[in-house]
Amino acid sequence: MRIIIPVLCAALVAALPAFDDQATFSTEHDGFSLDLQEERLLEFANGQRSVVTELEKIRLKAAGIKFLDITDTPDLGKFAHLRLQSKPSFPSPNATEIVEPILKTLSTKGPQENLRKFTSFRTRYYRSDTGKQSQQWLLSRISEVMPITAKYASKSLQHIISVQEFPHSWGQNTIILRINGSSHDEDGVVVIGAHQDSTNMWPFLPAPDDGSGSVTILEAYRALIAADFRPVRPVEFHWYSAEEGGLLGSQAVATDYEARAVNVLAMSQFDMTAWVKRGTREEVGIITDFVDTDLTDFNKKLVTKYLDIPYVETKCGYACSDHASWRKASYPSVFTIESSFENSNKNIHSTNDRIDISDEFSFNHMLEFSKLAVAFAVELGSWKSL
Ligand SMILES: *[C@@H]1O[C@H](CO)[C@@H](O)[C@H](O)[C@H]1NC(C)=O
Ligand SMILES: *[C@@H]1O[C@H](CO)[C@@H](O)[C@H](O)[C@H]1NC(C)=O
Repeated sequence: MRIIIPVLCAALVAALPAFDDQATFSTEHDGFSLDLQEERLLEFANGQRSVVTELEKIRLKAAGIKFLDITDTPDLGKFAHLRLQSKPSFPSPNATEIVEPILKTLSTKGPQENLRKFTSFRTRYYRSDTGKQSQQWLLSRISEVMPITAKYASKSLQHIISVQEFPHSWGQNTIILRINGSSHDEDGVVVIGAHQDSTNMWPFLPAPDDGSGSVTILEAYRALIAADFRPVRPVEFHWYSAEEGGLLGSQAVATDYEARAVNVLAMSQFDMTAWVKRGTREEVGIITDFVDTDLTDFNKKLVTKYLDIPYVETKCGYACSDHASWRKASYPSVFTIESSFENSNKNIHSTNDRIDISDEFSFNHMLEFSKLAVAFAVELGSWKSL
């Protein structure tokens, strides 16, 4: 079965010449396991599904067409109707006395060290050898943070933390880190996410990708455990694989959670958190399309209460990051980005998506997003001693 939606054809054709000019254009590439002729099932904003080849998928992405690659996860959202029947509410944030001292301990030091290494892999493409290596490095960094904490926090905190790889067939795994809650999972799990992979428009070319979302949430996690965070609800940090391939990693995780009837109370995605375009006001972009409205309102309150910069409402279209996978299963999810979508980093998916290319890349700006992640975890996860 091969159907190409007619309306997409013009965009496909427009994207073609760029790739045919590539000296690197070939179907065989060392260090990659990508079959350009493999058939993939995509789902588009209008709900339409089409089978395309991997090469056509790459061209669609290059042309700016947004989609979910649902080949491996056609059932995601099967039980969405159940969750719509009992929507949670999100009261105003009130844990100021706990959150504010933790925010003061956040630092740009770890993020700077981590990003220097994380962006040094030639690409973190999910079907590349270096993409697997970058994932293993990230896993080792996350695991290293825990022993450091043991020096400051009680041993019992380590006993409620686990780090796991969520395996994927393509090799680069999603990483799931969990701080167990004192209550049962049925009371809701809080998820903070970012994607770890990168891609060039043409996947075989280098793709440093600034990786800001991944280290933003890692720094939030470090500060939380250093403060001996004891949540009532379990709080999880997810570093998704293959966001760039059509949200493959997060869809696989969300499908698994849905199948196991895990009650995810709230999911917050961090993707692109460092760029402040020259001449613009520094602000937090709150995405308002394809997100949960109540949780978005709550997130705005967190920005106003805890951050040093204001928010601006903005839109990024269908399936623009991993929160969309959770939304498909009707789990409340939100997405924040470095600025209004128009002012965000224009170097993405190119060899220029680097941390050292411009003073518009700001570690201090990133830190505001770590604050937001800390506040989200504490306010929604709650603190056992409260
Ligand atoms: C904050 O609000 C929640 C929900 O209304 C409540 O359960 C909690 O006890 C409050 N916490 C504080 C510190 O007032
Ligand atoms: C966390 O809680 C789950 C049950 O919800 C349990 O299976 C798991 O062993 C716990 N993990 C740790 C590290 O305490």
